[in-house]
Order: sequence, then C-alpha cells, then structure tokens
Amino acid sequence: MDQSNKLLSEAIQFIKECYDELGLSEDIKFKRITEIEDEINLTGTYSHTHMELTHGAKMAWRNNNRCIGRLLWETLHVIDAREIHTADEAYEKLLDHIDFATNDGNIKSTITIFPARINEYDPIRIWNHQLIRYAGYEMDGKIIGDSTSLEFTKMCEELGWKGNYTDYDILPLVIQEVGEEPKLFDIPKDLVKEINITHPQFDHFKRLNLKWYAVPIISDMRLEIGGIDYPMAPFNGWYMGTEIGARNLADSDRYNALPKIAEVMELNTKSNRSLWIDKSLVELNIAILHSYQKAGVTLVDHHTAAKQFKAFEENETKNLRPVTGNWTWLVPPLSPAATHIYHKPYNNKIKSPNYFYQMNPNQKDNKIKQSK
Ligand code: ARG
Repeated sequence: MDQSNKLLSEAIQFIKECYDELGLSEDIKFKRITEIEDEINLTGTYSHTHMELTHGAKMAWRNNNRCIGRLLWETLHVIDAREIHTADEAYEKLLDHIDFATNDGNIKSTITIFPARINEYDPIRIWNHQLIRYAGYEMDGKIIGDSTSLEFTKMCEELGWKGNYTDYDILPLVIQEVGEEPKLFDIPKDLVKEINITHPQFDHFKRLNLKWYAVPIISDMRLEIGGIDYPMAPFNGWYMGTEIGARNLADSDRYNALPKIAEVMELNTKSNRSLWIDKSLVELNIAILHSYQKAGVTLVDHHTAAKQFKAFEENETKNLRPVTGNWTWLVPPLSPAATHIYHKPYNNKIKSPNYFYQMNPNQKDNKIKQSK
C-alpha cells in the first residue's frame, strides 16, 4: 500500500469512529470522508477540523495503555496551536499552557497541539521531556539534581544555558523551528508551582528539603490521529502520589531519599528485615499526599486512582469498547496487590489515536529531517 492509500485508510477509520462517537449522521460522515480523500489526492495530506482534533486528542488519552487516569479522558482541555510556526510564539503558548493547567493548584488536564508533520518535516519541535523538569549534573562522580535529565542538561549547557547546580534547577525550554538552530527560553519562576514536602507527624521531615513541582507536562511524545502526526503536543494531567513518592524522590538512582528518611525516623538500616525501606517509602508517600493537599495542588492517591480506573473499565465495557492496558505500567509501585489491577491480565494492544514515543530531534540517526 503506498503512503497516501495508507493515510486515507487511517483517516477513514478515525473519521468513522470519531463521528459515530459524536453522534453525527452517516451523511455528514461520508461527505467528510470524500472531502479528505480529495484533499489527500491533491496535497498528499489532510488537515483535521477543530472538532476532529479535539475529540482525537481525547481518544488518544483513552487509548493510552499505560495511563491509570483515563476515566477523565473526556475532560481534556484541547488548545489548537496549529497556526504557530516560530519558536518565540511557541514559547508564549507553552507559558500559557503552564499557567492555564496549573490554575493555581486546581490542575486542569490540558494539551496544546502545534503544527502536524508534513511530508516527513516537523515544522516545530520541543526537545524537553516535560515542560517543567529539574536539571541533573554529574560532578566529581556524584549526581546533583535529577539523573534522568543528565543528557538534556548537558545539551542545554552546550547551547549556552547556565544552571545553578542545585538539586532543583528548573530546566529551560528548548524549541526548534524547522531548519533553524534550537532556541533556549527560561520559564519565569512565578509560573512554576512547587511543593515543599513536609510530614503530618514527623516534623524532622522538612529538614530533608525535599520538593517537587505541581504539574507533569509530557512534551516529547507524538500525538497520532487518523494517520496524522503531531510531533509537538505537550499534555498534562496531575500526579498520582506514588510517581513522586515511590519513584522520583525514592529511586536509588533518582533522588534517593529513603536512607535519609530512615535516618530522621531513626530506623534500623543495618538489617533488611527491619523493613526500613518499606517504612520510609510509606512515610514519604504520606508526606507527598499531605504536602500537595496542604498546598491546594491536585494529586491523587494510588488507591483512589485504581478505583477510578475500575470505573473507566466499566464505562468502556458499557460503551462496547474493549479495554486495553499495559499491566506493568498500570500497577502502582506501592502496595500493587492491594489494587484490583494486580489481579487481572490486560490486553496491551495499541489502538489509534494514541501518544507514542518518538526519536529525539537531536539524535544523529534522526529520520526526521531538520532542514530543507
Ligand atoms: N511519571 C512522570 C513523572 O513523575 C509523569 C508521567 C505523567 N504522569 C501523570 N500523572 N500524568 O514526572
């Protein structure tokens, strides 16, 4: 099948599903399919209506097998930024996204969709993994900050950025227009909501100086709708506590907070059998839930999230859509067997629309041409 036949068949499949879900008539649906067919024949591609883009982005969330938060897929706020072509304009849009989604702590699930890929060219790309992320540095064999940011931080430094070498330096945004060098932009401090981690009972917890940011805004994934790729489409929900408390701050190759927590809690770290790791983990997670709540920032605990996922499964079944899921991602990293997810298999079939990993724009073997 050649490229445009493949695109047409993917478009038709999407339009049928989308228009059926939105309750539109057969007539409207087939008119639209004919229109898309003409557009593909003429230009080799087609462009989504605002309605298709909006519903497609929501379907992509609903189809994302790794996400436990999919019950809320219909609440996604979709910002159409397909008219943006310069890094400077994109920067403004990204700041708007951060501000709107943060909403002073009452987080709104939001996606901003930039221009689609055309004939293998990406009109604009962002290099960041998340819009808000802490830098990571290696100094004298020791890691400062977030180890997942080491490579990206180095790249930012090569582009002229200067970090403060603290554990919590907010990385700049790196935006690249097709054929241009990437540009660096700082995020104004007052736009980034951060939460200091304190514990409801152990006062000493605050001595650990742990903190995290409010809104996880994934910016390196490609949104695919009906055969059209959107390589820059940052999106966010809100955190589930364990993402921070059982991974980001806890993993021994991330912020490695557990030994320090055990110390302030005076646990016996000499023996595995004291379960100091488990005790520290639970207290850290209690502290995360407590601190976000106190700061008025939306965050869900893993038991509630699992219950919401169960409701999602029931909804989907009612609507005759088979539920797909990736078990290894859906089970929470804390007390997994205390959720229903642990006890059943999930079919990891990949449906479209969806969000996909993609090659970094800076990778040498990048198939996406960056210049004309
Ligand atoms: N796990 C990632 C992090 O800790 C965020 C992934 C998206 N999470 C979300 N709740 N939407 O930064």
